[in-house]
Amino acid sequence: MAKVKTTFFCQNCGAQSPKWIGRCPSCDQWNTYVEEILHKENKNDKVQGLISTSTQRAKKPMAIQDIGIAEESRIPIADKELARVLGGGIVPGSLVLFGGEPGIGKSTLMLQLALTLKNLKVLYVSGEESELQIRMRAERINTQNPQCFILSETNTQNIFTQIEALEPDLVIIDSIQTLHTSYIESSPGSVSQVRECAGELMKFAKESATPVFLIGHITKEGSLAGPKVLEHMVDTVLQFEGDRNYVYRLLRTTKNRFGSTNELGIYEMHGAGLREVNNPSEILITHREQPTSGVTIAATIEGMRPMLIETQALVSSAAYGTPQRSSTGFDLRRLGMLLAVLEKRCGFRLGVKDVFLNIAGGIKIEDPGVDLALVCAILSSSEDMPIPQNICFTGEVGLTGEIRPVNRVEQRISEAEKMGFEKIFISSYNKKGIDLTAFKIEVITVSKIEEVFGKLFG
Ligand code: TYD
Ligand code: MG
Repeated sequence: MAKVKTTFFCQNCGAQSPKWIGRCPSCDQWNTYVEEILHKENKNDKVQGLISTSTQRAKKPMAIQDIGIAEESRIPIADKELARVLGGGIVPGSLVLFGGEPGIGKSTLMLQLALTLKNLKVLYVSGEESELQIRMRAERINTQNPQCFILSETNTQNIFTQIEALEPDLVIIDSIQTLHTSYIESSPGSVSQVRECAGELMKFAKESATPVFLIGHITKEGSLAGPKVLEHMVDTVLQFEGDRNYVYRLLRTTKNRFGSTNELGIYEMHGAGLREVNNPSEILITHREQPTSGVTIAATIEGMRPMLIETQALVSSAAYGTPQRSSTGFDLRRLGMLLAVLEKRCGFRLGVKDVFLNIAGGIKIEDPGVDLALVCAILSSSEDMPIPQNICFTGEVGLTGEIRPVNRVEQRISEAEKMGFEKIFISSYNKKGIDLTAFKIEVITVSKIEEVFGKLFG
């Protein structure tokens, strides 16, 4: 029997050490080293068998102009949201990591992709569900593709054998944490297994020009489980997020070698799978009979996509001694900052009030351009004065109470105009370089927070 070789791996960043150490020198985390068994022998022979011998030849440098770009042509996909997030179709030979919390709909989205790629042979490898379970899910989604093959398997060598026989045009792995390679003896999901399996799949993807999608689990902290090297290895990292109690799901890219990051795709989970949401503004705003206090509309941008979103605030006298601050979909610390600005610059006594914030639809917003809408919602609730429904806001609030400019303001204004709003408040610093007369919507520019209230409530 071959000698058993063990190494210690940091479970956080994947760093290796021959002996146990308390603190990882590369990521500074404590107590993250775990011993894992390595057993490397004639490694990669299966993968090697799959790839052409040309790769064995030593490579020579090439002039950049001489490298053909024809092979970069993308595989078109019907799902517009996924296509946008990927940067327009699937790049041959790309390795895509697709992460998200359990139950968010990762397997559903990938199966939908497999079923809608009609003229391509797709292999869906599942280590989590049986063939029957996947078949039942496919029934729910109600799309058929005779070229979609399901394999319930976790051993990478067996998977490569099947790939060799089937020659698929796309491979989907659900999930990378369930795979194991025979060359390493540690358990599936451990750092060394995840890294090794991903490495084998990357080699396969690059050398056969077959795109591979890896579904990945998420840790408690919300980052992708497994070593950080996994994220470095792949070409694209997609993140599926959203509140499981709501129907909307957001698809983001955090890394993309073939397109821009920060693109956003929106889906709606319903009885028959995920449905694309092509016009988010329409669903994120509730049309009310009467304007209600504490509700404002923010014109925000996610990636390249302008979106109007409802923000809600509730301000009430603190029921207990310590005032509560709570926020859903918006950074709580930033809320604290906005309240301090209102208190200090405008003299509103919010320090003794409970303040609750909510962004409609269970969506998380990071764009500071929603500040102005939030501040107005807080004041509207605090003074119990409704803001007319035909007004929307975009602007960042600075520490001195100034309204700071936002990016892509024209796109935000046009979206507001398209959605039938009559007035939009923007920062006066945004006025430069844009032609306000080109818009039908009335654009009101403000530079100080006090000015906004004057113009709103007179
Ligand atoms: P799933 O894709 O299994 O999530 P993941 O792979 O990320 O863990 O999706 C699970 C949830 O989606 C499940 O709770 C039920 C729901 N769902 C629907 O509401 N409609 C559907 O058509 C499908 C297939 C799933
Ligand atoms: Mg799943």
